[in-house]
Amino acid sequence: MRLFQLLIYMLALTIGGCLAFQHNIQFPHRSPKQLKYIEKTAESSPGPAAALTAAASSHPTLNNQGKALFKTNCASCHNKNMKDDLVGPALSGVTERWNDFPKEDLYEWIRNAQRLVEAEHPRALAIWKEWNKAVMTPFPNLTDEDIEAILFYIKETSS
Ligand code: HEC
Repeated sequence: MRLFQLLIYMLALTIGGCLAFQHNIQFPHRSPKQLKYIEKTAESSPGPAAALTAAASSHPTLNNQGKALFKTNCASCHNKNMKDDLVGPALSGVTERWNDFPKEDLYEWIRNAQRLVEAEHPRALAIWKEWNKAVMTPFPNLTDEDIEAILFYIKETSS
């Protein structure tokens, strides 16, 4: 009878040991929940270098001013990521696309796009036709400084 008890005891130890061993192989230090958490945080938190680039604007005040103006006036039609089209084209690199003309032309476009189309300005005509003659809202109240701030914000957001 004693031998039987001993055998059962040993069997229990072996099974228990095996289970514990297996568990240890699969998850040596962490539970699966913890592992998932660690993978997730590693993905979502950009490194210190990325954090620095995001924070560094060469002119934070101008950037904020441009951002606020863009949000209220332009973001309904122009994607705020500056890279994808929306109701209107993505604005990344827009200053460069108007480089062949004096900068006042681009300012004039933003204040009243249709006036430039009617004057048959080459860039205005081209972009207007490309966008199936959609009409961009005029913004006659935007000052030169406002437009400079918006274009600055577009540039900083695009890079
Ligand atoms: C109602 C929608 C709408 C709003 C609001 C709007 N746009 Fe546009 N925008 C367009 C469309 C559509 C085009 C394409 C040309 C066209 O069809 O007039 C365009 C074109 C442009 C272009 C020319 C792009 C190029 O590649 O030459 C610039 C610059 C521009 N928009 C700037 C702005 C800015 C800055 C604001 C805010 C102050 C603004 N837009 C607000 C619809 C809009």
